[in-house]
Amino acid sequence: MIYTVATTPFDDQKPGTSGLRKKVRIFQQPHYAENFVQSVFDSLDGFAGQTLVVGGDGRYLNRDVIQIVLKMAAANGFGRALVGQGGILSTPAASHLIRASGAFGGLVLSASHNPGGPDEDFGIKYNIGNGGPAPEKVTDAIAARSLVIDSYKILDAADVDIDTIGESQLGDMTVQVVDPVAAYADLMESLFDFAAIRAQIAGSVTLAFDSMSAVTGPYAVEIFERRLGAPQGTVMNGTPLPDFGHHHPDPNLVHAKELYDRMMAPDAPDFGAASDGDGDRNLIIGRHCYVTPSDSLAVLAANAHLAPGYAAGLKGIARSMPTSGAADRVAKKLGVPLYETPTGWKFFGNLLDAGMATICGEESAGTGSDHVREKDGIWAVLLWLNILAVRQQSVAAIMADHWATYGRNYYARHDYEAIAKDKADALMAALRGKLATLAGTASSGGTVKAADDFAYTDPTDQSVSRNQGVRILFTDGSRVVFRLSGTGTEGATLRVYIERYVGPDGDLGLETGDALAPLIAAAQEVADISGHIGMEQPSVIT
Ligand code: G6P
Ligand code: ZN
Repeated sequence: MIYTVATTPFDDQKPGTSGLRKKVRIFQQPHYAENFVQSVFDSLDGFAGQTLVVGGDGRYLNRDVIQIVLKMAAANGFGRALVGQGGILSTPAASHLIRASGAFGGLVLSASHNPGGPDEDFGIKYNIGNGGPAPEKVTDAIAARSLVIDSYKILDAADVDIDTIGESQLGDMTVQVVDPVAAYADLMESLFDFAAIRAQIAGSVTLAFDSMSAVTGPYAVEIFERRLGAPQGTVMNGTPLPDFGHHHPDPNLVHAKELYDRMMAPDAPDFGAASDGDGDRNLIIGRHCYVTPSDSLAVLAANAHLAPGYAAGLKGIARSMPTSGAADRVAKKLGVPLYETPTGWKFFGNLLDAGMATICGEESAGTGSDHVREKDGIWAVLLWLNILAVRQQSVAAIMADHWATYGRNYYARHDYEAIAKDKADALMAALRGKLATLAGTASSGGTVKAADDFAYTDPTDQSVSRNQGVRILFTDGSRVVFRLSGTGTEGATLRVYIERYVGPDGDLGLETGDALAPLIAAAQEVADISGHIGMEQPSVIT
C-alpha cells in the first residue's frame, strides 16, 4: 500500500559541493530524509519503470536510509532497484554500476571523508545516468523543490533483506541485491596490467593500503590481496565500521598519520596509499616520499599511457582551479588541452561525456578518469602500481625525474575549520571588495599580476558558474587562492591554497614550508585572516 505523507519543508536541504551533508541528528528529524529523497524524485523526469542504484559507505544510518529510499522508490514508480549487498557501494563502484546497468540514476549515501556515527555526519547524493554527480541545474531544482514540498510517497512494507544476494519484490518494484565488489574489480582488471603488478608484488615490492575502516576494505582485500597476491594484512583497517572506528576517514597527512608514520619509518614498504569514507579519494605516499594530490595527478597523466587502458594516450586533462598547475605542464608537453574547472567532481562530467578529457584530478585527493564519472581512490592506486611495474623505479625516483622534466609546483592547503559563517563571509567579502586594487601591488609574496574571482564557462553547454574562489596571481607564476568549503557541516571552513612554481633548473629540493613561507605571509596580509577569524594558525595543513 502506498502512503502519501503530508510534510512541511526544511530550509537547509540545498545540496553542497557533493550532495546533502548534515549531522546524523539532523537527518534523524522526522521526515527529513524522506523530504530530501522526494525532492530528488520530484526534480527528475521519466524514471517510471526505470532502474535506481542504491548504496552507501556503510556509515551510521546507512541501512535505515536505504530502507526508506527503497520504499520511496517503489512508491514513486521505479521499476527496479539495484542495491549493494549489506547496503555497501563505494562511490566509484556505484558510478560504474549506474553506467553498466543503464540505470536512470543512483542515490549514494555518504558524507565522504567526514566522520560517521550518531554524533557525526551523514549524506545523500544523487547521481545521474552517466554515473556522475548531478549537475548544478539538477541540484538547484532539488533545492528549490525542497523549499515547497508538502508530501512524499512511501510504500508501507516490511524491510527488504539487503544482505542476501538475489531478487525480491517491493510492491511493483524489483529489488536486486548485488555483489558490490566483483564488477568493479573486473573493471579495474580491464584497465591495468594485473599480471605485471602481480609479478612485481611477488618480487620485492611491498605495499600498505589503509582503508580507514571505511568502504574500500572489501574492495582492497579483493583487488590487492586476492587478485594481485599481496600478503594478507597489506590492507589495514579493512572492515567498514559505522563510525569508522572513531576515526576521520580523510586520507590526508593528519588523519592518515598511522600510514604516514609507517611510510616514513626505516623499514617502510615501497608504496603506501589510503582512501576515504566512500572510496573516491586517494593518498599516495612512496617510501619516505609523500606525493601531493596535485603532483599525483601530473605524474599519472604523464605516465598513463604505460597502462593498457590508456595506451592510446589522453584526450585532455582537467583539474579544479585550486589544484596546482603541475598537470598543465604535462598537458602542454603531451599537446592535449587542459581544462580548469571549479571545485567539485560534477564539473568534470560534461568534459568526460564529451570525450574532451580522459584524466581529471583535484587537490582534495581526488583523481579519476573516463572509466566512471566519479573520482576513484583504488583506480589511482592501481595506475600508480602499473606505472611502478613498468618503470621499475621507486616513487621517489619517479617524482625526482618528473620535477627535473617539468619543474616543481610547491603546494600546500591551509584549512581554517569550524569558524563562524558570518566571519568567513566577511573575510571573503572584504577580499572581493579589493580585488580591483591588487594588481601591481607588492607584498612578501612578490608583485601581484592579477586578482579575480574565478568564473567558469562549461565548454560543452556554455553554463556559467561564478564566485568559485578568489585568485591572487603573482608575476613569477606563484598563486594564492581563497575559498570557502562547500562540504563542511559545522560553521564554515576557509581554505587557502598556496602555490609556487620552480622551473627544472631551480631548487627542486626545498622543504615545502620554506618554499611557501613568503606566500603564506602574503596571504595573511592580503586577507587579514587572523583579524577576521581570530585564528593565528590553520587547523589543518595538507
Ligand atoms: C568533495 C567533492 C570534490 C571536492 C571536495 C572538496 O570531495 O567530491 O570534488 O573537491 O569535496 O570540496 P570543498 O568544497 O570542501 O573544498
Ligand atoms: Zn569521498
